Amino acid sequence: MSGLQHSIKNMMNWIDARLPVTETYEKHMSKYYAPKNTNFWYLMGVLATVVLVNQLLTGIWLTMSYIPTAEGAFGSIEYIMRDVNFGWMLRYMHSTGASAFFLVVYLHMFRGLMYGSYQKPRELIWILGMLIFVALMAEGFLGYLLPWGNMSFWAGQVIVSLAGAVPIVGDGLATWVRGDFNISGITLNRFFALHVVLVPMLLLVLVFLHIVALHEVGSNNPDGIDIKKNLDDKGKPLDGIPFHPYLTLGHDLPAIVAFCFLFAVVMFYFPDGGGYLIEAPNYEMANPLKTPDLIAPVWYYTPFYSMLRAATFPFLGLDAKFWGLVVMGGAIVLPAVLPWLDRSKVKSIRYKGMASKSFLAIFVVAFFVLGYLGVQHPTPLKTFLAQICTAIYFAYFLLMPWYTSVERTKPVPERIPMQ
Ligand code: HEM
Repeated sequence: MSGLQHSIKNMMNWIDARLPVTETYEKHMSKYYAPKNTNFWYLMGVLATVVLVNQLLTGIWLTMSYIPTAEGAFGSIEYIMRDVNFGWMLRYMHSTGASAFFLVVYLHMFRGLMYGSYQKPRELIWILGMLIFVALMAEGFLGYLLPWGNMSFWAGQVIVSLAGAVPIVGDGLATWVRGDFNISGITLNRFFALHVVLVPMLLLVLVFLHIVALHEVGSNNPDGIDIKKNLDDKGKPLDGIPFHPYLTLGHDLPAIVAFCFLFAVVMFYFPDGGGYLIEAPNYEMANPLKTPDLIAPVWYYTPFYSMLRAATFPFLGLDAKFWGLVVMGGAIVLPAVLPWLDRSKVKSIRYKGMASKSFLAIFVVAFFVLGYLGVQHPTPLKTFLAQICTAIYFAYFLLMPWYTSVERTKPVPERIPMQ
């Protein structure tokens, strides 16, 4: 051992005696065994982490030149785009990152649905994931007001005024959220504080807990087989491989490179995504006297926005707007109880029966249709279609206890099959 190596070893021993660096590295990296059959869908977690880091870093830099006031916000974005060195790139990295975040998180959640990753013993990972999802939705919404474009203003107006639909306290609640009787500089200021401080901190804590909970029980896999049941004579899972270096370098790194490439293509060549990533009215400053032709949220909220609009009639003496709020809120939180809705003996869709497969397929179609309808002008036919798709969305979850317990499942092999 050379002198330098010896010194490094001594230093590590000194640190390890005070802070468990090597132990933590081994527990979570080199001696953390992940299933050997993880596939494309298992890349989304690491990609979500990459996007999270991108959002935090570009967000910090944007904050250095952004002015959180009604008078200054729109102009400061123009200043960032034109005058700040590489400001345009920082802004597009952040705005493209927002869409990329939802894309990978939706795919990540879909993987959970396919492979039953929410089932015992991963209920808490799933619930923490759902909290992340809600925090992410809040983060996106708060951030959307900050450029102070006309769509920022009107989308903020529509969503905050929804609070007004809550019986009795509604109007007071909406005023309390805005800090004013209309969306104003005061609202912008508090949204800024929440967007750059509170929610990112919450997200970081939740993601940390999400990963700790995951490493406590270990990853699921596309076959839903518990790899801890088959150990070698050293107590290592026979169907597992060390996370580092095998999965980090062989699985995650190439995916990160490919993802960055695709991300760069969108960011450099299609930063506004044809009006779906940055909407046309947002190139104009917020104007309370000019309502955009169609007020629609960014694509990642549209399935839920459609469900909000699908409630068109009063019920039990409460108006349609209130029920829209209930339906949308219910649709967002309902997946949290999934671990207790799925009664199947097997985890993965590969071994589930026809009912689960068909319901999942119809659910996906309904979700896409709702997403599409959310950016369309409502017509009676489109509203009816949105109502049907909303019913399918809820049926997928609420009928799950029934169809997962009556369907015939396939036997799950003891060991992960050779690929
Ligand atoms: C900022 C957002 C998120 C980050 C950074 C993140 C990160 C991760 C990472 C790194 C993994 C391990 C790798 C993988 O399985 O892909 C993971 C697993 C998991 N995540 Fe997330 N996640 C996020 C959001 C969510 C959401 C919204 C949900 C669901 C509501 C969720 C549910 C899960 C589940 C169930 C697993 C275990 C999957 C399995 O072992 O099959 N995550 N997450």
